[in-house]
Amino acid sequence: MRFKTANNGTITKAQVNERVKLSGWVLRRRDHGGVIFIDLRDRTGFVQIVFNPEIDKEAHSKAQDLRNEYVISVEGVVKLRDDNMINTKIPTGELEVMIDKFELLNTSETPPFILEDNTDTNEDIRLKYRYLDLRRPEAFDNIYKRHLIVSAFRHHLNKLGFIDVETPILNKSTPEGARDFLVPSRLTAGDFYALPQSPQIFKQILMIAGFEKYYQVAKCFRDEDLRADRQPEFTQVDIETSFLSTDEYLTLIEGIMVNVIKDVYNIDVPSPFPRMQYKDAMDQYGSDKPDTRFDLKLINVEEAVEGCDFQVFKNAIENKFTIRCLNAKGGEVLSRKDIDDFTKYVSIFGAKGLAWMRVTENGLESNIVKFFNEEIQAKIIKATNAEKGDLLFFVGDTPKVTFDALGNLRLRVAEKLNLIDENKLNFLWVVGFPLFEYDNKEGRYTSTHHPFTAPVPEDLDKLESDPLSVRSDTYDCVLNGNEVAGGGQRIYDSAVQSRAFSILGIDKETAETRFGFLLDALKYGAPPMCGYALGVDRFVMLLQKKSSIRDVIAFPKTQKGQCPMSECPSKVEDSQLEELNLKLIE
Ligand code: AMO
Ligand code: AMP
Repeated sequence: MRFKTANNGTITKAQVNERVKLSGWVLRRRDHGGVIFIDLRDRTGFVQIVFNPEIDKEAHSKAQDLRNEYVISVEGVVKLRDDNMINTKIPTGELEVMIDKFELLNTSETPPFILEDNTDTNEDIRLKYRYLDLRRPEAFDNIYKRHLIVSAFRHHLNKLGFIDVETPILNKSTPEGARDFLVPSRLTAGDFYALPQSPQIFKQILMIAGFEKYYQVAKCFRDEDLRADRQPEFTQVDIETSFLSTDEYLTLIEGIMVNVIKDVYNIDVPSPFPRMQYKDAMDQYGSDKPDTRFDLKLINVEEAVEGCDFQVFKNAIENKFTIRCLNAKGGEVLSRKDIDDFTKYVSIFGAKGLAWMRVTENGLESNIVKFFNEEIQAKIIKATNAEKGDLLFFVGDTPKVTFDALGNLRLRVAEKLNLIDENKLNFLWVVGFPLFEYDNKEGRYTSTHHPFTAPVPEDLDKLESDPLSVRSDTYDCVLNGNEVAGGGQRIYDSAVQSRAFSILGIDKETAETRFGFLLDALKYGAPPMCGYALGVDRFVMLLQKKSSIRDVIAFPKTQKGQCPMSECPSKVEDSQLEELNLKLIE
């Protein structure tokens, strides 16, 4: 016995007058004067099936009891619909199947929400009943496209001679900078495994082992505060190579990304991707992941406003802070309330205020224009390329606050002024990040990337004398203002590795305890190596034009790190804790 001889969503006109057997879920039921119409759904879509008492009395009579989400199997003949019944919006809209045989396979309780696209059902409810939510074609399509994207990566990597190697999940702590998830060991009481934040150390070890081209679709675990683009467990396409220059590596890897997008979406992404120095990204966009789908670059107006009477700017100049302007082109449509909202918004990033000036036919207008004489106003207009109808925003503060505030405001303003073309896929590489940052709270240097990252060779001499000016030989891949991937050249010389550790304040003993096995391996002929990791969830989210990675993960966690369906994390039995030698603090 067969349940189906065709798929509901892909029946075509070529099958008219053919007999088919279909199975699936009742999506909708309509009763029209004794004839029952049902949209029968399976994962390929749906087709209209018709129960007409004149064709089969028994089937028609049984169909009266059908409700949404009942599972049925039917048999009948494919027919063209009458002209006035054609639905041009769906692929099977010209067809219907006249049913003469019917079997009820299962009933269903009434679903707690309507299984349609564009649902406004609360996400927690959808995640609790994720098996119903995933029946929605749009939800299914996100997971299906994810499958196609990952398959395409595998295909291209396999073709290029990369080897897929699994690395341990029960692991030693990896240094990606987030908090570890720990797993207590039963066999050696008091010891813990850490779940991998990435396969970073193992992929370097595989290079030292001579694998040359490694990849893995790797699960990574990071215990950090969650956001729309962050999950506690996520997936990377993790890639490592030996004997490639950064140039060669980036060409190779962007070729793969371009091919994947071509395969799955038939879109031609232009390459090579532009490369931007970190310094320029910050300077022009106030962000290390600039959205280049629109212009609105930040402008340095320190010289232009020199000599003004505006106290805020005078202070900024005195303190050797910075003053930047965002020229919102066509910003005259923005209201006073918009400006107030923006002012509140930039305060999130520490800005104490947001100065603004409207550009009108009478020149600059605002509450603070009186503090700028005519000559300075002319300089501001020139520096910002201001034209009638523009609205200028300024922040004068420390570089960090100024760039954070205006970099984020830039995105808000672009949204508000509809400057973002949602169909664009703007890739770029951001390169030349600083190797170290200074952590004021901890009073020490930390790695911007991770402690195995190589400095660019020209900066190696400054490692000890001027650590903050040393650039790393790394690259972040940015897509539409999101960091989708990151990586770099690794240190393969154990002497350089020791120097890096010493700047990071990781003493010999700590280094030995934490990464001793990598340091040992580096002594046995480590090759030059580089790689990257692409965040699959983010990549799929952007290609599917979604605003949360939860949409492209089959069973995601909520912002609180919980799964509403399985209700994890959850309590465990006392006996389990005992076995692990653990006690909860009351
Ligand atoms: P990095 O930490 O930059 O690099 O991570 C690489 C990419 O993984 C994605 N990503 C995340 N996605 C969802 N949820 C998260 N919590 C999360 N954290 C990171 C991002 C990011 O660009 N070992 C290095 C790579 C290397 O040097 O080769 C690493 O993991 O898209
Ligand atoms: P105040 O002097 O507080 O009345 O502020 C005058 C204007 O300057 C207001 O529009 C504030 O939002 C703005 N402002 C205050 N601090 C800053 C700053 N650091 N950068 C830019 N504008 C500011």
